[in-house]
Amino acid sequence: ADFDLVIRNARCVTAADIFDADIGIKDGRIASLGQQLAAGKEEIDAAGRYVLPGGVDGHCHLDQPMSDGSKIADDFLSGTRSAACGGTTTVIPFACQMKGQSLRAAVEDYHLRAGDKACIDYAFHLIVSDPTPHVLTEELPALIREGYTSFKIYMTYDDLKLNDRQILDVLSVARDEGAMVMLHAENSDCIAWLTQRLLAAGKRAPKYHAASRPMLVEREATHRAIALAELVDVPILIVHVSGREAVEQIQWAQAQGLKVYAETCPQYLFLTAADLGIDEHAQHGAHQGAKCICSPPPRDAANQQVIWDGLQSGVFAVFSSDHAPFRFDDQHGKFITGQDAAFNQIPNGIPGLETRLALLFSAGVLSGRLDICEFVALTSTNVAKMYGLYPRKGSIAIGADADLVIWDTGLERIIRNADLHHAVDYTPYEGQRVQAWPRTTLSRGKVVADAGSFLGTQGHGQFLPCDLPAPAKPRVRSSA
Ligand code: URP
Ligand code: ZN
Ligand code: ZN
Ligand code: ZN
Repeated sequence: ADFDLVIRNARCVTAADIFDADIGIKDGRIASLGQQLAAGKEEIDAAGRYVLPGGVDGHCHLDQPMSDGSKIADDFLSGTRSAACGGTTTVIPFACQMKGQSLRAAVEDYHLRAGDKACIDYAFHLIVSDPTPHVLTEELPALIREGYTSFKIYMTYDDLKLNDRQILDVLSVARDEGAMVMLHAENSDCIAWLTQRLLAAGKRAPKYHAASRPMLVEREATHRAIALAELVDVPILIVHVSGREAVEQIQWAQAQGLKVYAETCPQYLFLTAADLGIDEHAQHGAHQGAKCICSPPPRDAANQQVIWDGLQSGVFAVFSSDHAPFRFDDQHGKFITGQDAAFNQIPNGIPGLETRLALLFSAGVLSGRLDICEFVALTSTNVAKMYGLYPRKGSIAIGADADLVIWDTGLERIIRNADLHHAVDYTPYEGQRVQAWPRTTLSRGKVVADAGSFLGTQGHGQFLPCDLPAPAKPRVRSSA
């Protein structure tokens, strides 16, 4: 046989095209696209089904130690298993530098965490939390050249945040080396000041998390991030954008011709701050609202609409999960159920790796808000380009990795945590209806998930060194 596997009669969708073809796969790559391809050792008939490039999730947290002692529930096994079952074939989690730690040590640590566990391919973003002169002049440039070509920096969280001067230093390295910088934009001092006042007034329930981080703290930091990037003349990507005021800042920057990219996430389409208020009167034990605590917090229906508008208009380049999984019933009994834990003691983040694609396909493509090529762009192609993995990932093209998803559409499914494959004991989307789900997921030509079952193998996933991303190139100004 010419091929290891042939997927017959696929309705292939890329960010640019829709075409009907057989997909011939050899040695893990797409070897041929055409009509009536020769036989494969194995064959899958996809007649009547869409076949899309596997999802690339450019923002998720796996096995990341937390400085407050809370524990990320998913390691590289359960996280990538869950991703595969949700149609994602590449994840880009973080290798997080702790203050005082060398960046190199962080990278080595995360390779040990991922190495023989990952079931799908992965790259790493760095998190730079301690930009010492050594980090800025030696470690960061060296790591960028080795394939760690994107990194996240924080404007809030005491253990991670950088001040404006440090942000300028880091942006300047990104400019010199051609790396992509992701920014978490919230004003740290405003949040600390509001939190102190809320707690002093006895306002401890999960819903006060939203009150402690109103949209203006995100708007201000987004504005400042854009100004700092403009000063250095370097592209940036604002992550997890939650609503109108931040979107307005980004649209302003984009209208100036600045290369300011933006990411949003399912929580800003499907949750609101009201979800943080569920069970707010419970005196002890579980507050269900804690299940929806993330930062920035979900806003309201009007802001959900602004996020949809931004997905449609192109304000957002990428749609990621920001999967940051914490168990609700933590055995440590310390955080989410907590002995009446205050909102600021509940770890920030919600699970979403497995539900990201089905939610957007259903509410975006099937509702007519997005066309299917835009869906592929937002969830796969643009992400691969943004982080230097394209064209190996993010497309259906000859020579690309055979990372493919055969979709089931026109079904009726209710999201239940019991059906998901992560190691978290809840999903914030419990009970949500979807009309599409990734049926078969292939990673480099191997079926890793089918009909709701995980079929992959631990250690199949390979580390992907990333190229310098084209979108990270500074603007070219035409000379007058
Ligand atoms: O609340 C969130 N988003 N937690 C995950 C960490 C981050 O800031 O992305
Ligand atoms: Zn963040
Ligand atoms: Zn209580
Ligand atoms: Zn995150």
